[in-house]
Amino acid sequence: MSMTGRILAIDQGTSNTKALLVGADGRVLHQAAVPNVVTYPQPGWAEQSATALVEGVRQVIAEIVSKAGGSAGIAALAISNQRESIVVWDAATGEPIGPCIIWQCRRSAPACETLRGQGHAGMIEQKTGLALDPLFPAAKIAWLLDNVPGARRRAERGELRAGTVDSWLLWSLTAGAMHATDHSNAARTQLFDTSALHWDEELADLFGVPMALLPEVRSSDSNFGSLAAGATALPAGIPIHAMIGDSHAALFGHGVRSPGMVKATYGTGTSLMALTPGRVLSRHGLSSTIAWSQGGMVAHALEGNISVSGQSAAFMADMLGLADSAALSALAESVPDSNGVAFVPALVGLGAPYWRSDARGTITGLSLGTKPAHLARAAIEAIAFQVADVVSAMEQDMGLPIAELRADGGASRNPLLMQFQADIIARPVAMAAAPEVSALGAAALAFARLGVAMAPVPAAGRCEPAMAEADRIAHRARWSAAITQTLNIQA
Ligand code: G3P
Repeated sequence: MSMTGRILAIDQGTSNTKALLVGADGRVLHQAAVPNVVTYPQPGWAEQSATALVEGVRQVIAEIVSKAGGSAGIAALAISNQRESIVVWDAATGEPIGPCIIWQCRRSAPACETLRGQGHAGMIEQKTGLALDPLFPAAKIAWLLDNVPGARRRAERGELRAGTVDSWLLWSLTAGAMHATDHSNAARTQLFDTSALHWDEELADLFGVPMALLPEVRSSDSNFGSLAAGATALPAGIPIHAMIGDSHAALFGHGVRSPGMVKATYGTGTSLMALTPGRVLSRHGLSSTIAWSQGGMVAHALEGNISVSGQSAAFMADMLGLADSAALSALAESVPDSNGVAFVPALVGLGAPYWRSDARGTITGLSLGTKPAHLARAAIEAIAFQVADVVSAMEQDMGLPIAELRADGGASRNPLLMQFQADIIARPVAMAAAPEVSALGAAALAFARLGVAMAPVPAAGRCEPAMAEADRIAHRARWSAAITQTLNIQA
């Protein structure tokens, strides 16, 4: 296998599954994408078909192979993935026992509240770096075991396996030969001790997750095994050389290797992340997490997870009867401001820095002068305001102002949003040349494993803050008032 070949990088996201064929110089030679369906069976619940996720990956791989005219030169696969979404499956048949319960799902909120009531939240955060919240998989795995008939008994007999999406894809692509995950994904489960670097028995007991269900944790740049015959359109034997959570992969793709730079990945949600000199526990509502592990070294980061951001534009487009977020953005541009309207998209609760799973979406400031365009504008602004709240928390945790925000992901292509973002944080925003920084980051990690240094994704443009300070303060105050109102309304 050529050491300077190509990497086929998968980015398995919530809304889409993408694949890029990447050359050693970082050029994207071919790309493919398929949309994913998310279902919401009850308010606050969110799930996907686990088998459809694998099927989507197979489809994008097949499309890349067809566009490239074959598989020649593909040295390895790299996988970046939506994090905190879990699958439990039968070890013998590979059949999932239920849906993939995704990160946005709040069905395990009562279990988390029970643990909070019993006084465990502090210990959980101390060990995992994560606030006790239904975002994280531990309580979701237990929910499946307790709600799928017979599942807990089967788990105790060792018949089941569990894992985040990376782990599930790996199992499927290797036909059950590998049950593994990487440090970045394990760190998001709320079952992993991020100082000791192992699954934690006390946490597993507390959440009710048998340890035997959990995958082996490896370095993010490990050899995770190789493709099984017939698993995809690729020939058997191609190795999987990187697995890494999507937000972490984006940080890697921006070329961040030392503390100081903050990036925001605008996806279904938005994740802000910055490397830290070591493991730093947040005092301002952020998560302490493992960024990645490479060459035996573990890098730590601070992260702010916003549960609904790009999706708030899609949601509002739907509410206004518009075709999509692009139409919403065009409507938003037809007015100079939101006319006092604020939309807090707490559609599955609020993540960082508030962590209120019981919060629900709120629109404030409606008047007889409100037009659909103002609602559209408020939905775009909400993405930027939520990011601004996390930037403020990061600055407080890190004790220094951030110089600039690196932006990637689909919504980083929206000029209205990016300018408002720069204005509202009063810092420049540098937009990545390619929106697919997660996939490129995973490719860079796999290339590094093969001894090839892939260039980081460069910035394509930059928005300088241009808003008058008094206006910025007034906007932030309007948003803060809307947040306060949202936090005071119980679901
Ligand atoms: O933490 C959830 C995040 O990894 C999901 O990413 O790209 O599907 O919005 P995305």
